[in-house]
Amino acid sequence: MAAPGNPDPLQAEAQRLRQPLRGRRRIAWVLVLLVALLGIALPLLWPAPADDAPATARAGFDTVWNPGPLAAAHQPWASECKLCHAKPFSRVRDEDCRSCHRDVQDHVDRGRVHDAALDVRCATCHRDHQGSFALAEQNRHFVGKECGSCHGDIGAHHAETLTQNVSDFATAHPQFRVQKRSGIAADAALERVRLPAEGRLQEASALRFPHDVHLAAGGVGSPDGKRRMDCADCHTPDGTGESFLPVRMETHCQSCHSLAIEPALSGRELPHAPVPQVLDTLVEFYTFVARNGAPPDPVAATQGLRLLRPGREKETPSFVTRGADPLAMARVAATELVEKTACRVCHTPERVSGPGTAGTPGESLPQWRIPAVAPAHTWMPAARFSHAAHRSESCGSCHAAKESTSAEDVLMPGIAHCRDCHAGSAPEPRKVSSDCGLCHGFHVVSGHAPVTAVSLETAP
Ligand code: HEC
Ligand code: HEC
Ligand code: HEC
Ligand code: HEC
Ligand code: HEC
Ligand code: HEC
Ligand code: HEC
Ligand code: HEC
Ligand code: HEC
Ligand code: HEC
Repeated sequence: MAAPGNPDPLQAEAQRLRQPLRGRRRIAWVLVLLVALLGIALPLLWPAPADDAPATARAGFDTVWNPGPLAAAHQPWASECKLCHAKPFSRVRDEDCRSCHRDVQDHVDRGRVHDAALDVRCATCHRDHQGSFALAEQNRHFVGKECGSCHGDIGAHHAETLTQNVSDFATAHPQFRVQKRSGIAADAALERVRLPAEGRLQEASALRFPHDVHLAAGGVGSPDGKRRMDCADCHTPDGTGESFLPVRMETHCQSCHSLAIEPALSGRELPHAPVPQVLDTLVEFYTFVARNGAPPDPVAATQGLRLLRPGREKETPSFVTRGADPLAMARVAATELVEKTACRVCHTPERVSGPGTAGTPGESLPQWRIPAVAPAHTWMPAARFSHAAHRSESCGSCHAAKESTSAEDVLMPGIAHCRDCHAGSAPEPRKVSSDCGLCHGFHVVSGHAPVTAVSLETAP
């Protein structure tokens, strides 16, 4: 038995174990607490404010957990972890991404397609903290494997589908469908129809325009003699180079298809405008002519206008009769110009009975309606296409415009031509290896008008 005041070494050891904070372990505990304070308590108590605080005041203590740099597009929020990690200690939730990406589209309309295989978290595909390169780029190289898991047998995922099976661009991809208007009205619904193996699809058009006449190898008549036209004379690339600006009458047609009113009498042209403005111009013009009594020279008149009025009726008479009522002259001129020599060349004007309602000088003349010219639309909404990426290729190799006699011809290229240059996922000599992601996004409609039209099929 040990004497009091002279403790047993064993007991002393037990005592130390009962009081772990004494002695050497104290330093370890201080460090543990410090780490907990810096790594857990401070970040939880003082995370970065998620409001509009100035950038300098934004960094919070939670940034110490950052596993790597965020994508460039997200770097403005690099110190606001809570924007994406709203709930601590759990995976990134889709709703946190959607708090900013409100309009990001699903792969398909979930109201129509119920497929549990589509319930994938945003973060499964978009893994952030991988460096500052674009997040979307991570997924550009989706190959047949990922997409083909569903599209190789699409009926198993969506029984009512009109979409055909796809697993590789070179060997198992159907002929393209194009989207076109189902009727002549400018607001007619769009329908999707597969390109035929032979011949062309037609799309109703309220505008007359034969490509072939204007692209004739020998040129086309113009006020300055024969002029050789090229696609670029009418199709100007848009800002991105992806597509083209709309073709406009004033810019692209009027230099040849003049809207001159009278042969050899001032160079005055009709405005290219709604019918009431055209009729007002005629009333004002002939009122002026009648007041000033200036008859044109009929011979010079017909000759002067021969080249200026290509198409239907090359020779336009003068409508001026000395001493006649200006309204009567305007009436004859309006009927000729609208129904025969001017508007009629490109439009199909429809006579409207009764006087006009515009409340302007032209309202007492006969009235017409010009059917609206439908605006351009996307042809292949389910894929992307960039003209800029194909700049070195001639337009004619994809669009047989030179042989097209009517604006109704659909000039879109089929898959065979793309396959001249685009291989599938497996490389082929002198071809571009093409994974699905080259031509398709995942958020199918991104960058395009939504695919709302019901798919209509012609023979596959
Ligand atoms: C723009 C959104 C966004 C912001 C901001 C963000 N993260 Fe992340 N973080 C993600 C995504 C996406 C993942 C992938 C996680 C998943 O699968 O749920 C992730 C994963 C993580 C992981 C897990 C590591 C891994 O590789 O799986 C940690 C730790 C993390 N983030 C910490 C942070 C910290 C700390 C901050 C603030 C400095 C932060 N994050 C800011 C989007 C974000
Ligand atoms: C199955 C994979 C996958 C899932 C799941 C996914 N994405 Fe994407 N995402 C992609 C691909 C692939 C692209 C590239 C698209 C392109 O190049 O057009 C992309 C592009 C984007 C873009 C860039 C802009 C755009 O619309 O093209 C945003 C933003 C985006 N995704 C957000 C999200 C959000 C938010 C979620 C969750 C609601 C999500 N993604 C889920 C694959 C996915
Ligand atoms: C604080 C707002 C905010 C949050 C939260 C956010 N983003 Fe973004 N994200 C942006 C902005 C802004 C851009 C750049 C503009 C754009 O492309 O829409 C962007 C771009 C993207 C892009 C495309 C850009 C690229 O680099 O390719 C993807 C993909 C994306 N975010 C996915 C996500 C995902 C997944 C989440 C959730 C983990 C998320 N974002 C959370 C604001 C946010
Ligand atoms: C989970 C299954 C699934 C996966 C994975 C999947 N898709 Fe889809 N995809 C569908 C379904 C279902 C539809 C809707 C078909 C319909 O509307 O009839 C669809 C529609 C499409 C369409 C539009 C078809 C059309 O003409 O309207 C394209 C293009 C497409 N997917 C491409 C892809 C690409 C590229 C990938 C890989 C990045 C992919 N899909 C991955 C199930 C899937
Ligand atoms: C004199 C002007 C003019 C020239 C030159 C011209 N176009 Fe057009 N193009 C038009 C007009 C106007 C339209 C719209 C009418 C229509 O819907 O066809 C059009 C429409 C198109 C369309 C889309 C319409 C569809 O149905 O597919 C393509 C593609 C096209 N042109 C290609 C070409 C190519 C290729 C060339 C050169 C070989 C060319 N164009 C030369 C005026 C022109
Ligand atoms: C360089 C001069 C020139 C330009 C520019 C031009 N055309 Fe023409 N167009 C002509 C000539 C000349 C004819 C008559 C050719 C013939 O009859 O052999 C013609 C014929 C037509 C015809 C056929 C008329 C018919 O009844 O046979 C239509 C329609 C037409 N053009 C519309 C247009 C449109 C729309 C534009 C602008 C997008 C346009 N043209 C631009 C010179 C031009
Ligand atoms: C050489 C062909 C040509 C002639 C001649 C022509 N137009 Fe046009 N017109 C067009 C083209 C091309 C468009 C569509 C692009 C634009 O608005 O410039 C158009 C569009 C219009 C529109 C807009 C239609 C809508 O609602 O979308 C009106 C109105 C119109 N024209 C009236 C007239 C009238 C009236 C005349 C006769 C005075 C006339 N046009 C003569 C080619 C022509
Ligand atoms: C070189 C470009 C290109 C590549 C590569 C490509 N596609 Fe397509 N794909 C298109 C075009 C263009 C369309 C027609 C788009 C439309 O209908 O609007 C299309 C149509 C489709 C459709 C609709 C099929 C239908 O029945 O009309 C699906 C689904 C599809 N592609 C999936 C895929 C998948 C999966 C891959 C990869 C194995 C792939 N595509 C590779 C260009 C491509
Ligand atoms: C490699 C094939 C290819 C080449 C080369 C090509 N195009 Fe296209 N073009 C397309 C495809 C595919 C579309 C359909 C894009 C869409 O709307 O989905 C298109 C669409 C168009 C349209 C219709 C755009 C609209 O808004 O209605 C016009 C016009 C056009 N191309 C003119 C041209 C001209 C001019 C050239 C030469 C500078 C040219 N294309 C070269 C494949 C091509
Ligand atoms: C003459 C050869 C050739 C033909 C024909 C051709 N392509 Fe391409 N395409 C290329 C090349 C080369 C690239 C790569 C360009 C680049 O990386 O910038 C490319 C790139 C693309 C891209 C990616 C563009 C981008 O900006 O990311 C798409 C989508 C595409 N082609 C679709 C098509 C479709 C659809 C057709 C048929 C209508 C087609 N191509 C016909 C040579 C061709």
